[in-house]
Amino acid sequence: LNIIKVKGEQLFNETGAGIIASLLQSNPRAVLGLATGSTPVGVYQKLIELYREGVVSFKQASSYNLDEYIGLSADHPQSYRKFMNEKLFNHIDIPLENTHVPSGTTAVPEEAAAEYNRLLGAVGQIDLQLLGLGHNGHIGFNEPGEELQGPTHIVELDERTRQANARFFRSIDEVPTHAITMGIGSILQAKQILLMAKGEDKAEIVARALKGPITTKCPASFLQTHPNVVVVLDQAAGGLV
Ligand code: F6R
Repeated sequence: LNIIKVKGEQLFNETGAGIIASLLQSNPRAVLGLATGSTPVGVYQKLIELYREGVVSFKQASSYNLDEYIGLSADHPQSYRKFMNEKLFNHIDIPLENTHVPSGTTAVPEEAAAEYNRLLGAVGQIDLQLLGLGHNGHIGFNEPGEELQGPTHIVELDERTRQANARFFRSIDEVPTHAITMGIGSILQAKQILLMAKGEDKAEIVARALKGPITTKCPASFLQTHPNVVVVLDQAAGGLV
C-alpha cells in the first residue's frame, strides 16, 4: 500500500483528481470505477475544473459505479445515479451511455446484480477503482460480517450506515434498507485502487483497514491483498497510520 498524506482539503482533492487525470492522459479509453459519498465530491469538482481547462477529456472513457440504493429510481434526488450525473457526468464530456450505475429499481434486484456482473465481465478489468471508506470499514456497500461476497450482490445496510446517510434524507425512515453493490472480488479485480479518506472520524478505521488484520469484520482490510493500491489521506484521517 502506497500511503500519501496531504495537508488540507484542496491538496486532498487535487491529489485524487491528479491521479485520475494522469491515467486519462496516458489512456484516454480508461475504464473508471467510481464512488459516491462525500469524500469524492471535491475530487469530482477538481476533475471538472481540469476538464474545463482542457487538461483532461473523458470522451472515450467509461465508468462503472460501485453501488446504488434499492428502491430509488435514477431521478430520485438521493439516488447514486442522480448524484453522479449532478456531481460529475453533466459537467464533463463523458458520453452518458458510457456511464454505468447498478439499477436500484429492477423488479427482482438479484437480476440487476447478475446484469451488472455481466457488464463487468465484458469490460474485463477496471483500470482505476476509486473508493471511499465507511466508518465500519465498508467499501462499496460491503458491510462487515461473517462472510463477504465476491460479485455484485444485494445487501442489507448496517444500521450505522443508514444513520450516517440519513443526513441526506428527510428522516432515517426514508433511507433505503437495501443496496446493490459490487462485491469485494469485483473491487479487487481492478488494475489499480485509489482509496481516499478525510477527517478525524476516519482515522481509526483507516488504521484498522490498512494496518489491522485482514478480516471480514473490516472489509476494507482486504485491500492489503491488492498489489496496486494508492491511499490518499488528509492529515486528520492519517493520524494513526
Ligand atoms: C459510495 C460507497 C461508500 C462510501 C463510504 C464513505 O459509493 O460505496 O462505501 O464510499 O460510505 O462515505 P463518505 O465518503 O460519505 O464518508
